[in-house]
Amino acid sequence: MLKDGIRIVEKKGLCYIADNRNKIKRFKPWLGDSFSFLYDRIMQKSIFPKKFGGDMGKHIDILQKELKDVRGKNVLELATGSGSAVDFLHNSNHFTGSDISEGLLRQAVKNFRDAGFKETKFYVTGAEELPFADNMFDVCLCILSLNFFSDAETVFKDIRRVLNTGGIFICSVPVPEKNKRESTIRGRLHSEQELKNICVNNDFKYEGINAENGVLLYFRAVLQ
Ligand SMILES: C[S@@+](CC[C@H](N)C(=O)[O-])C[C@H]1O[C@@H](n2cnc3c(N)ncnc32)[C@H](O)[C@@H]1O
Repeated sequence: MLKDGIRIVEKKGLCYIADNRNKIKRFKPWLGDSFSFLYDRIMQKSIFPKKFGGDMGKHIDILQKELKDVRGKNVLELATGSGSAVDFLHNSNHFTGSDISEGLLRQAVKNFRDAGFKETKFYVTGAEELPFADNMFDVCLCILSLNFFSDAETVFKDIRRVLNTGGIFICSVPVPEKNKRESTIRGRLHSEQELKNICVNNDFKYEGINAENGVLLYFRAVLQ
């Protein structure tokens, strides 16, 4: 279900937002679409060990543990990328992916199909302008991406709008206070305290997830 007035054009498994003349809205992703096939390798071999000072296997373990009881739910992911959520999310969930990168979303379509997910939709959209109707989702994921959004506060307002009461936001994000190697990390980093404040301002109860993995903070926030 979409917000009133939203027009969607579907092409090759992706949903695009269109204006009233059916002109599709396109975005400029950080990794050009033609390099999307390199994304998984770059994350594993370069970004995790070199930028995050962490480990991708550990990252997956932490999220698997956190999401093990999430089954048969309506799950939204902001900035789905190439679909790494298949590594930690059970395939009985109804999954809605979103990202500004068509190239990465195309890979996500394939990864979710290969992982046996039956109900999926993938939207080419910015996290700042979610096209979904209110109270549609039980869980919202945002993995390694919050720092890329132009305004985290605006994104939280929209997450609050699309989640059910009691809905859970699960996030993994680099934070400056864990950046001991002073790596250059793209985007705008928020401290844990700033993230807590954003959660509280938007009626979420912040709960830290007890996990150490380099520069990454893991937390859940429950909509009150
Ligand atoms: C480091 S990747 C993480 C992808 C995936 N969540 C993962 O864990 O592999 C960051 C993602 O954020 C997406 N992105 C950047 N800015 C965005 C925005 N404003 N709205 C939605 N997605 C965005 C990029 O296209 C990319 O897929």
